[in-house]
Amino acid sequence: MIPWNELERKALEARDRAYAPYSHYHVGAAVLSESGRVYTGVNVENASYGATVCAERVAIFSMIAAEGPQARLRALVVATRSDPPAAPCGLCLQVISEFGDSSLPIVSISTTGSRWEETLENLMPHRFSPEHLDTSE
Ligand code: THU
Repeated sequence: MIPWNELERKALEARDRAYAPYSHYHVGAAVLSESGRVYTGVNVENASYGATVCAERVAIFSMIAAEGPQARLRALVVATRSDPPAAPCGLCLQVISEFGDSSLPIVSISTTGSRWEETLENLMPHRFSPEHLDTSE
């Protein structure tokens, strides 16, 4: 059982802590690890715009920092003001792919109350994953 209510509440609460003085687009994320712990993230922008890190990646990096390299994703929620709710960006989907199975459920919610749920597979088919490196030449 995935505690969607808790994940969605924590993603929305995290969003209030976003550092987004340039885009004013506040994003919050919450991830559930296979061990059952929840980690949150916010987007952290920078005057050198390219140094910005998205909320999803901050949450995932917190999971790895807390649990170590074997940690795996069980679920991910992203919260924005967008309606329809926004999908994680391509860079974040790539990082999600590193730590989540193709069946990983990803939920996007809006401050307006809208919500959708998709699998990683549907959001990013044919993604480059660690398995592609498992061939020997
Ligand atoms: N952003 C995220 O935090 N997650 C996404 O998946 C898309 C974009 C942030 C980055 C930047 O701070 C702001 O939203 C506008 O792009």
